[in-house]
Amino acid sequence: MSELAWWQRGVIYQVYPRSFQDSNGDGIGDLAGITWRLPYLAGLGIDAVWLSPIYPSPMADFGYDVADYCDIDPMFGTLGDFKQFADRAHELGLKVLLDFVPNHSSDRHPWFEESRSSRENPKRDWYLWRDPAPDGGPPNNWLSRMGGSAWEWDERTGQYYYHAFLREQPDLNWRNPQVRRAMDDVLRFWLDRGVDGFRVDVLWLLIKDAQFRDNPPNPAYEPGQPEHHRQLQTYTEDQPEVHEIVRSMRATLDEYGERVLIGEIYLPVPQLVRYYGANGDGADMPFNFQLLNAAWNAGEIARMIRDYDSALPEHAWPNWVLGNHDNPRVASRVGAAQARVAAVLLLTLRGTPTLYYGDEIGMTDGEIPPDQVQDPAEIRQPGIGQGRDPERTPMQWDAALPGAGFTNGRSWLPISTDTSVRAQDGDPSSMLSLYRRLLELRRSNAALVQGAIENVAATGDVLTFERHYRGQRLFIALNMGAADAVMQPRSAVVLLSTLAGREGLALPESGYRLAGSEAIIAAI
Ligand code: NOJ
Ligand code: CA
Repeated sequence: MSELAWWQRGVIYQVYPRSFQDSNGDGIGDLAGITWRLPYLAGLGIDAVWLSPIYPSPMADFGYDVADYCDIDPMFGTLGDFKQFADRAHELGLKVLLDFVPNHSSDRHPWFEESRSSRENPKRDWYLWRDPAPDGGPPNNWLSRMGGSAWEWDERTGQYYYHAFLREQPDLNWRNPQVRRAMDDVLRFWLDRGVDGFRVDVLWLLIKDAQFRDNPPNPAYEPGQPEHHRQLQTYTEDQPEVHEIVRSMRATLDEYGERVLIGEIYLPVPQLVRYYGANGDGADMPFNFQLLNAAWNAGEIARMIRDYDSALPEHAWPNWVLGNHDNPRVASRVGAAQARVAAVLLLTLRGTPTLYYGDEIGMTDGEIPPDQVQDPAEIRQPGIGQGRDPERTPMQWDAALPGAGFTNGRSWLPISTDTSVRAQDGDPSSMLSLYRRLLELRRSNAALVQGAIENVAATGDVLTFERHYRGQRLFIALNMGAADAVMQPRSAVVLLSTLAGREGLALPESGYRLAGSEAIIAAI
């Protein structure tokens, strides 16, 4: 499999650092904790660990408000702890990916403190400052993704600044060449420390309309949706100039060899795939989030696979994401039985899979009592399903230990104890064992990694497709319904099933009864 880059062969695992492993009893996960758990990740069979932000931050948005791009928040450790983490990961054969948050900084970043100090400050133009509208109100109608106007009035200098998220997260001005250079230095700072790539936060939002035109109303808006959905984001996202910035980030990474540039981009597929760049000079992988809110049925998923595959530019490498820190967990979206089917799907589709911590043991969304809500998205727009605490609850290592093995102290979010790594570890029928087997099978079958995907079809509730590479042909069948379904494969031998005791089974051409919520991988 040598002609592929490591990030094409590999599987990415997202760690939400606050919730993975606490090492000092303050109830918050940290770098020393993650380092201690690295052997678990290596044993699981993943290839790269992506850490959500660990930089100094007032934590208004739990680290997505960065106050210093080139250091570590004391809550998570030190640059020395980071080095130990990265060295240990590399020793274990794991790559290290960081979260790069270039769209906005914290309002406590020295850049912003300078910028807001006076209109004449050399960093004034590093952020988006505008005069009030003639009536004294905000300069235009742009709305924050966290609710309310995206403009914050600054009394001292008599102008408004723009923030796509919280007012504590002022947007940087990416039309300013100094900002671009400063951010390029940030990339180099971490690349020089051996980082293997970045997941770039809200890449599609970086540039805003130069004329600051009002966004038009969204005719499809329905009450109960987040407030910014009232408008089409015509002038605040996916601006043509963004691609030039992506190209320059990519050029910096390319100087360091095989590094990966991943973009967080929530856009329909035709716009999404433009982020690969015109000549393969864009992002290596614009995240493909389609599975996060797909209607969970065979027909819909088959259509999605085919459409994505045919929209990809020739040079583009596909990828699929099943969960992240901003969306309900897969086991809660589709239920425990279908979460196993989803695992097989994620790890047999063509392209790099990204797993979210805890999904490998089927963690569900946590229950968050109202007085324990932490997420600013929920606090600012309560009750509309935007709260992200449920999918950020601590990793469940061992339900028998206090703090489930996550902490000796009082955890920052409630910990569920319905299942744990310990409980699933030796059980061949567990979700954890299924993930380990899938990852192992992927590692040892080139067809799963670099094979073409063909014959994608939905028959009733059953989704089937084939992966083939050189002489090897694999047949994947996923029963997305609860009832048994008979299917007619060509003669095949089961390599893996979500059900126990089926491996090695020869499937008769006369028909195979796939149990409800069973998924199989077979050699044909
Ligand atoms: C996307 C991140 O994934 C999310 O958690 C965060 O709130 C916003 N970007 C703002 O940085
Ligand atoms: Ca800690």
